[in-house]
Amino acid sequence: MKKALITGITGQDGSYLAEFLLEKGYRVAGIVRRSSTERFERIDHIKNKIELKQADLLDQLSIIDAIKEFEPDEIYNLAAQSFVPTSWTQPILTGEFTALGVTRMLEAIRHINKRIKFYQASSSEMFGKVQQVPQTEKTPFYPRSPYGVAKVYGHWITVNYRESYNIFACSGILFNHESPRRGREFVTRKVTEGAAKIKLGLAKELRLGNLEAKRDWGYAKDYIRAMWLMLQQKEPSDYVIATGKEHSVQELVEISFGRLELKWKDYVVIDPALLRPAEVDHLVGDPSRAKKELGWEPQVSFQELIEMMVEADLDKLKKNSKS
Ligand code: NAP
Ligand code: GDD
Repeated sequence: MKKALITGITGQDGSYLAEFLLEKGYRVAGIVRRSSTERFERIDHIKNKIELKQADLLDQLSIIDAIKEFEPDEIYNLAAQSFVPTSWTQPILTGEFTALGVTRMLEAIRHINKRIKFYQASSSEMFGKVQQVPQTEKTPFYPRSPYGVAKVYGHWITVNYRESYNIFACSGILFNHESPRRGREFVTRKVTEGAAKIKLGLAKELRLGNLEAKRDWGYAKDYIRAMWLMLQQKEPSDYVIATGKEHSVQELVEISFGRLELKWKDYVVIDPALLRPAEVDHLVGDPSRAKKELGWEPQVSFQELIEMMVEADLDKLKKNSKS
């Protein structure tokens, strides 16, 4: 039975990855950081099938202990301060988690067992002010936020440990991926939940920033499969994971409100406080290499994804208002 250790198991991707690996027959453990209240909403349904180890990406020894104790074959490093606006208000903490945290994981592997395979959650945010359209594995990085800068460090340190120590380390350059489990502050979930609240009379307006920004949005469950596939190849490498299609925030708003038969212009308010100090105007990835080498392709379209999220939010809000 193969063993996988997931950092960030309480997050969107971590929870789907844990389910996916359990279905594949893995023994799964997750790293969780200590909190005064346990908030394991996304993994509650699988809590009795996984093991949880208390550790923190800021604390080298806790990582070493977790790895020594569990002896994983594969490590998926998904933990990060992942919200871009927070990276301007907490740039140093973001660097500690999202950049140096990766080195702490790799150092632990180097000291404990160099045969452990490692997956690093790299990001399309590294392309920032894009130097090429669409973006490929060869497109130069030009990050536009402290988060993006931290991810570039995490990406290159992963490449460096692969080349320096022959560790099987891969970076997945994943474009935005969403689901009903997406954090509420990210724009897709903010819009789908906001529109559902308006539909149910629980809110009167939805405040948003830049409606013109474009992203290549896919479904988180599709993207989890790509992470696992990367660690099953003969040679470690880095892959762009994307749909190859871009949509604007306004299109996201139109689909969400349209699904609920609401006119978005009656409810959406543009709030300049939500504009970013430096914006990433558009991102669109070229997933050809992943398709050719991993046999990976996305299965859920943007329209299907957003409608799925709207329906899920509507259901959740209805249930909450009954209880
Ligand atoms: P998420 O929902 O924000 O989850 C982040 C996870 O990291 C949470 O489990 C969080 O734990 C954990 N974490 C944060 N700081 C930690 C620390 N110091 N020690 C231990 N754990 C810590 O993020 P996601 O959307 O699932 O994304 C997963 C990864 O992929 C992240 O690295 C993100 O930057 C990257 N990524 C995401 C996307 C996307 O579109 N979703 C695209 C490209 C790359 P708590 O529950 O305790 O907060
Ligand atoms: N969050 C948010 N809230 N974004 C808004 C809003 C708003 O009210 N209004 C407009 N936007 C625009 C942002 O300016 C940005 O251009 C776009 O919507 C997407 O924002 P987010 O959903 O917050 O995601 P992100 O692209 O900044 O970052 C996500 O994707 C990265 C991959 O490219 C995160 O998941 C990162 O962790 C990930 O690496």
